[in-house]
Amino acid sequence: MQTVLSGIRPTGNLHLGNYFGAVKNFVKMQENNNCYFFIADYHSLTTHPKPEDLQENVRKVLSEYIACGLDPEKSTIYIQSDMPQVAELYLLLGMNAYVGELERTTTFKEKVRKQPENVNAGLLTYAVLMAADILIHNAHKVPVGKDQEQHLEMTRKFAQRFNRIYEVDYFNIPEPYNFGEKLVKVPGLDGSGKMGKSEGNAISLIDEPKVIRKKVMKAVTDAGPAEQNSTKPEPVQNLFSLMELVSNKDTISYFNDKYNACEIRYGDLKKQLAEDIIVFTTPIRERILDIYNNSEYLNKIMKIGKEKAIESGSKTISEVRKIIGFKPF
Ligand code: ADP
Ligand code: TRP
Repeated sequence: MQTVLSGIRPTGNLHLGNYFGAVKNFVKMQENNNCYFFIADYHSLTTHPKPEDLQENVRKVLSEYIACGLDPEKSTIYIQSDMPQVAELYLLLGMNAYVGELERTTTFKEKVRKQPENVNAGLLTYAVLMAADILIHNAHKVPVGKDQEQHLEMTRKFAQRFNRIYEVDYFNIPEPYNFGEKLVKVPGLDGSGKMGKSEGNAISLIDEPKVIRKKVMKAVTDAGPAEQNSTKPEPVQNLFSLMELVSNKDTISYFNDKYNACEIRYGDLKKQLAEDIIVFTTPIRERILDIYNNSEYLNKIMKIGKEKAIESGSKTISEVRKIIGFKPF
């Protein structure tokens, strides 16, 4: 069985894009892999969150992922900062990571440009910490979005370098996890591009029905088709693409037929789409709230995750220390 690992940023409020583009695949991934999922709270310190927000963010995001189907019985779900071994491996890997290559990382260069007032060393060594996250469990595969591909490439480099320097074949060289099918792109409601938190066009899993109705009713459309069977322009296609994700086949063909016959009423389509999104998100929203409000359950899960993660991490660290040459006196 392969070990697959993914880090999750503690930024909460998953939207439909995150769900259909990533989390749904994570849930499936658990079935035939040895999965580790952790909340990357050490990484989040690069932006200096307030102490009172730190744990709150972690609890929120944990509740969301578990409500979506990450299963503490099938996978190891833990908090990065619960595992000191990761900090130790980060220190050790850092000795063989070169400032030049870290400075050339795209994400680092972008931060330097965007927040020149806070270019901390944690940002510079972000990729080293991410490599430690992955190598601490000697993962074979990592599901990564576009923005994280370079970090995985650096992890591969650090792992190969370690193996070469110490003349061992210790670390697996981790590869991107391939979901096998075409990745869905979930469109936003503003007529162009994809749904995203920062784009302000997202429907969150935690949104109340009335919020969802309001957002969908405001979605961009056009004046309607002028000719029968015409191609749908982007804003309209986007609404149909969302329907593909949440509505049943009959509903989709009903509105397609209406569109093709130039009889479509976008108001009706939006009303139906909003209700179908609500049917889809309501059970998830209820689970999120149940889990979030059940501290006892969350604490129990985090304790189990921590123990499993530490067991795996301690093994790696003691082997790595031996390879490097640390010996007990
Ligand atoms: P955001 O900042 O909008 O929450 P992220 O970039 O943090 O989104 O997304 C995390 C992951 O969720 C991405 O790697 C991608 O797999 C998935 N994702 C986000 N938005 C979409 C989308 N609109 N369509 C498909 N997948 C998405
Ligand atoms: N950097 C990742 C992100 O921003 C989160 C992350 C941290 C991660 N460590 C990881 C992802 C290890 C995969 C593997 O989304």
